[in-house]
Amino acid sequence: MLDKKVSELLNNQINKEFYSAYLYLDFSNYYYDQGLDGFGNWFKVQAQEERDHAMLFIQYMQNNGEKIELNAVDKPDVALTDAKTVLEETLKHEQYVTSLIHNIYDAAYSVKDFRTMQFLDWFVKEQGEEENNADNLIKRFELFGDDPKSLYMLDSELGARVYTAPSLVL
Ligand code: FEO
Repeated sequence: MLDKKVSELLNNQINKEFYSAYLYLDFSNYYYDQGLDGFGNWFKVQAQEERDHAMLFIQYMQNNGEKIELNAVDKPDVALTDAKTVLEETLKHEQYVTSLIHNIYDAAYSVKDFRTMQFLDWFVKEQGEEENNADNLIKRFELFGDDPKSLYMLDSELGARVYTAPSLVL
């Protein structure tokens, strides 16, 4: 029911979102290992959100009668050098995901697939928020990361993040 190229890109995005979940779980494990449990928690919640994104792509394809092919999820390949670098890698990864979403949008636009464009609108907005969140984390780490007391408070704040289901219902 969907254009072949659009369908392929949507199917591919399922894998990319599961990879994001896997990547952020790796980051979460890294921070727990470093004793920064709040950062660990923040990334664990982020991993849950990424899994939700994958499920939304699956649901959208199913709603449109498309066949889904699940592919192998790659091993996370970002070097866990230090606490700040991991945050910078998060922003880089979100910018990459934004480019993927825009690419699907572009394909849908070119075949006047307004339904898919409308579905993707939520993700376009979500990506703006996710890039902003990652950028904020970097800035706050730059401000507070060198002072143990401030870092402890930042870590405690991030530890309070709780998972909530996505606002998009299909
Ligand atoms: Fe599914 Fe972080 O974008």
